[in-house]
Amino acid sequence: MKVLIILGHPNNESYNHAIAQTCVSQIEANGHSVLFHDLYAEHFNPLLSLDTEAENTELDNQIKTHREDLMNCDGIIVIHPNWWGQPPAIIKGWLDRVLSPGVAYQFVEKDGKHVLLGLLKAKNAIVINTSNTPSEAGDNLLDSIWTDRVFKFCGINNVECKNISVIKDCDVSQRNKWLAEIKEMMNTYFGQK
Ligand SMILES: Cc1cc2nc3c(=O)[nH]c(=O)nc-3n(C[C@H](O)[C@H](O)[C@H](O)COP(=O)(O)O)c2cc1C
Repeated sequence: MKVLIILGHPNNESYNHAIAQTCVSQIEANGHSVLFHDLYAEHFNPLLSLDTEAENTELDNQIKTHREDLMNCDGIIVIHPNWWGQPPAIIKGWLDRVLSPGVAYQFVEKDGKHVLLGLLKAKNAIVINTSNTPSEAGDNLLDSIWTDRVFKFCGINNVECKNISVIKDCDVSQRNKWLAEIKEMMNTYFGQK
């Protein structure tokens, strides 16, 4: 399998980076290939501009690569901190620019109306986010953005969101425990080939 991993955190010594590294190593150890994009390290440009996204415009290589990876992967993992109850802007920009019509979804005409068709071939999507406040019942804006607005819209119905909190108060043993859980999660979704 090919697994796409998208990371959106500015500090390469962050816990988010440790999570991403755990995912990459475990998936590779299980014999699958990883398409890894650390958006800050790549200086990903998150700003959609009408000039550059217009049809027939030569796309920049970065966006071309991201779109190809997205279309060709069998599973997707997104890792980011919770910023104001949402993904960081760089991740939002990745959605805006990479999950474009014709790549991630399209509207087709049926009985005189436009009907949504999800185009992604990936079967599973996993979102791992960290926060400093405990997640509470009913406070599921992030989960709902990823599950309903993004992945189901693009044809992926099997979506798991894992919220890791409270990061501020936890010690090394708790951090290692969460990383062990993430390793197991990788084994569940992308087990030995
Ligand atoms: C701009 C910004 C906004 C944040 N908003 C929230 C928030 O709404 N809820 C929350 O629990 N934590 C919030 N945080 C805290 C981050 O979620 C926390 O620092 C991060 O998950 C820690 O991950 P790390 O150890 O990998 O840096 C925010 C942090 C920043 C910098």
